[in-house]
Amino acid sequence: MRIILLGAPGSGKGTQAKKLMDNFSFPQISTGNLLRQAIVDGTEIGKQAKEIMAAGDLVSDEIVLDLIRASLDCPSTHSGFILDGYPRNIAQSESLDILLTSINQPLDHTVFIDVDSDTLVKRLSGRRMCSLTGKILNIYYSDQSEIDECLNAGGELIQRSDDNIESITNRINIYRQQTEPLLEYYKSRKLLIIIDGNGEIDQVYGRILKSTNLID
Ligand code: AP5
Repeated sequence: MRIILLGAPGSGKGTQAKKLMDNFSFPQISTGNLLRQAIVDGTEIGKQAKEIMAAGDLVSDEIVLDLIRASLDCPSTHSGFILDGYPRNIAQSESLDILLTSINQPLDHTVFIDVDSDTLVKRLSGRRMCSLTGKILNIYYSDQSEIDECLNAGGELIQRSDDNIESITNRINIYRQQTEPLLEYYKSRKLLIIIDGNGEIDQVYGRILKSTNLID
């Protein structure tokens, strides 16, 4: 299965990609995660990306294409992958088409996770990561027991540097301007599946499985 998870910041792309990866072993290729790792590693790409990401702007198409190319070169992606956060504009979609054609790995689906704007902002402003386990939690939506598990073990709840209201607003605006046009792009290629991304995480997951025929 080769799929793109498409959706606004906070729509649940990372959450759903992790569930698919855990249950089906499709590797998740998240340009956001790759860029955050580059920042932690202090690489040249990380240095270039740091300020741009904190402001919620897009990193250059060339940088993210290099990351995607390197990921798709890994044997672990040869029997399927989940793209999360890529592509994000028409130029990136066109580059991806060329790349996937050249390696004979056509896409099966582009799954658009549709979530209303108020929910996006609430999810993003409430997102935290447990400093001990790296687990993604949410102060508004996670069970208190999951949050306590992290805190009682001596962990801290860390907020992403771009999950402040200024950056969230910018990210959502950029999404509307640059990423939303991809819906038409994939619809015209008959690859688009739209699912309702509101509701519980497991409900949304069930909709993804059903719409992609991963379950009957
Ligand atoms: P990236 O890391 O891709 O961030 P994003 O697109 O802003 O998406 P998020 O990670 O914020 O949201 P998500 O949809 O994954 O939601 P999640 O599952 O975590 O990119 C970051 C930056 O990197 C960009 O701004 C840009 O600078 C750069 N970048 C990345 N890719 C690029 C590219 N291709 N080109 C150029 N630049 C690029 O969920 C959010 C929260 O909601 C969590 O707390 C989660 O627990 C909770 N949640 C999820 N689903 C539910 C649910 N159903 N119910 C309740 N809570 C839920």
